[in-house]
Amino acid sequence: MALKKILIRKEKREFIEDLQKEVRIAKKRIYYVEDLEKDFHTSEGIIPKTELKKKDGSIIKTKQGKELIMFSPCFIDHYKRIQRKAQIVLLKDIGLIIAETGINKNSTVVDAGSGSGALCCFLANYVNKIYTYEIRDDFIDLVKENINMLELKNIELKKSNIYEGIKEKNIDLITLDLPEPWKVIKHAEKALKIGGFLVSYSTSIPQTADFVDEVRKSDKFLFLKTSELIDREWKIDGRRIRPKSDGIGFSGFITFARRIR
Ligand SMILES: C[S@@+](CC[C@H](N)C(=O)[O-])C[C@H]1O[C@@H](n2cnc3c(N)ncnc32)[C@H](O)[C@@H]1O
Repeated sequence: MALKKILIRKEKREFIEDLQKEVRIAKKRIYYVEDLEKDFHTSEGIIPKTELKKKDGSIIKTKQGKELIMFSPCFIDHYKRIQRKAQIVLLKDIGLIIAETGINKNSTVVDAGSGSGALCCFLANYVNKIYTYEIRDDFIDLVKENINMLELKNIELKKSNIYEGIKEKNIDLITLDLPEPWKVIKHAEKALKIGGFLVSYSTSIPQTADFVDEVRKSDKFLFLKTSELIDREWKIDGRRIRPKSDGIGFSGFITFARRIR
C-alpha cells in the first residue's frame, strides 16, 4: 500500500536539577501511515482516523493524549521504501554522480544493470528520460514494482544485455553497476554524446582497475577520477559531540570518465 502520511514524535529533553544536566526523556519516533480510513496504532497510543484527515503540519493527538506532528510524504519518503534485492547504489554515491555530471531535467541517461532500480529510480526524479538495461526477469519484475510505487513515467525498462550494445544515441550519462563494466566501453563510445559522462560503480578494486585500464586505452574517453565517498555521521548530544561510533560502512568505488571525441 502507498505511503499516505508521516507522523513524527520529536525527541524530548529536560534539564534534571539533581543531575545538573539535560537528559532525553522521549526518543524521536517516525510512523508511516498507509491507510487513512483506519485508526492508526503507535506506541504513543491509538490515533483516531479523523485526526489523520488534518492538514500538513497539524499536531494530532492519540487517544492517550500524546502529541505527534503529521505531514504528507514527498519523493524521498516513498523512495526510501523501495524494495531491494541486489546491492543498491546508496544515496551518498548517487549524490556524487549527480553533482559530478551535472545532469538535469533535460538529460537523457542509460543505466545498467537495473538491479533493484535504486539508482535509475532516483535519477529519474532528476532527468528527462532514463533507459535501464537488465537481463534477469526477477529484477525486471522488482524494478517494475518500484517504478509503479514511485509513479515514475520517464523510465524505459529494457530486458537487454548491455554487453551486446546500446541502442540509444546522444546520451548525456551512462551509469554502470555490472560485473564486467569494461565490456560496455565500446558501446558507450557510440551512445554518449561528445562531452557525455560514463560512470561505473564497482565494489571491488580489481574490477575498478580493469575498467580504468580499458577507459584509458580508448582514444574517445578521458579518465577523470575514481572516488570512494565517506559519509560520517556525527552524534550531537549537548556537549557530547563526536562521530557516531557505529562505523563507516564501505559501499563502492565510483569511476568517472568523459567522452571527448
Ligand atoms: C548490483 S545490481 C545493480 C543495482 C542497481 N544499480 C541499483 O542501484 O539498484 C547488478 C545488476 O546487473 C544485472 N546485469 C548483470 N549483467 C548484465 C548485463 N550484461 N546487462 C544488463 N544487466 C546486467 C544483474 O542481473 C543485476 O541485477
